[in-house]
Amino acid sequence: MYDTAEQTPADHLLHPDLDERGRQAFAKHLRQFVFTAARGAAQNAFAQRVAPGLAQADPAAARDRKRVRAALVEEPEYQFFSDLHRISQEQIWNSSADTVERETAALREAFLAIRKPKGSLKLDPALEVPEYLRRMDTHCMPGSYYTDWVENDLTNGAMYERGGFLYTPGAGPATDGAGRTSLEFLRAHLPGFTPQRILDLGCGTCSPLMAWARAFPDAEIHGLDVGAPLLRYAHLRAETQGVALHLKQADATATGYDSGYFDLVTSHIMFHETEAEPIPAILAEAYRVLKPGGALLIVDLPDAGRIPDVFQQVVFDGDAYYNNEHFWMKMHDIDWVAQLRRAGFPEGSIEIGFAPMQMYVPPTAKNAEAGWSTGRFGFFAALARKGAERAQ
Ligand SMILES: C[S@@+](CC[C@H](N)C(=O)[O-])C[C@H]1O[C@@H](n2cnc3c(N)ncnc32)[C@H](O)[C@@H]1O
Repeated sequence: MYDTAEQTPADHLLHPDLDERGRQAFAKHLRQFVFTAARGAAQNAFAQRVAPGLAQADPAAARDRKRVRAALVEEPEYQFFSDLHRISQEQIWNSSADTVERETAALREAFLAIRKPKGSLKLDPALEVPEYLRRMDTHCMPGSYYTDWVENDLTNGAMYERGGFLYTPGAGPATDGAGRTSLEFLRAHLPGFTPQRILDLGCGTCSPLMAWARAFPDAEIHGLDVGAPLLRYAHLRAETQGVALHLKQADATATGYDSGYFDLVTSHIMFHETEAEPIPAILAEAYRVLKPGGALLIVDLPDAGRIPDVFQQVVFDGDAYYNNEHFWMKMHDIDWVAQLRRAGFPEGSIEIGFAPMQMYVPPTAKNAEAGWSTGRFGFFAALARKGAERAQ
């Protein structure tokens, strides 16, 4: 079974005890079982029964994600796989909650005790969380990104951080694989670009942003999110590690920063959790806060075009049905080039690409080569520059 690194208190702020680590390891391995063995059984059902049945009536149907899904949901193997998908996701949060609930008061005390921070935190209790985030608990995390169960709460930040680590094999002990991935993409596509001011939209608990802060130690680094408990957690972790992050609770459609302030605006896996409606306003806002020559880099989950296997497309789409991630595949119905052009980015500056994922495998006695490497799986990436044509 593919295993992931353990986390230490240097990577995150929780201290799961032995029993909790056991339950969390079970949740992590259950998820891995679901996406290997249980998925394999559903794939056999697809290959042996569903695909031939569909192809007999209409060869195009066996390649059409929606028609394949409609047929697969009738198959017991797919039903079992999907049920377990949901259950394993709930286990991730249930097992994380054991540790979080035990330690949340201590986190709050540590947060309130921060004096002379290197960075900053600006919260807006009056901010209205977008309706699309309030409609359901995104990826089944109880209370989602924004709920404060008590005053000055860090609970859901800690939940997201620990659960995210269990959910994402290969993202590394600090769950910063997405940040390392976007960094590699930027280095490959804009070599020598050294931003002085960086803004990450939908920064969450700032795991990707911490990778950027380490890569650009002289830069002024900002993160923005609607979720107060996530930002409090991010602030505490950054200050604990001596990293200056400037964090703000705001909607990405109206950031409140001065026009032309940033050299680089990024976002990591935010857009598949918005809706189509706010995207033009978010892109226009990113354009506004960029300097001339500044870059926007969006990294998100891959589109169906990058997943040639129709069964795998249906598996990805399953997150919309069983994991409250309704916009995951729909995000890719968006014409990103047209949207970026409409926001003001010159067409010649826009690149829609593929960012191979940075993956971490912990070193073992048998595998001395372990560590960070470039995986086969990757992210959708969109890069655009304000007032600049792409270098040929
Ligand atoms: C999947 S999480 C990703 C968090 C972080 N970027 C990461 O990779 O760990 C998506 C984040 O986007 C935030 N978000 C969604 N819509 C937003 C909006 N309109 N403005 C600001 N943040 C938003 C959510 O609150 C959530 O923290």
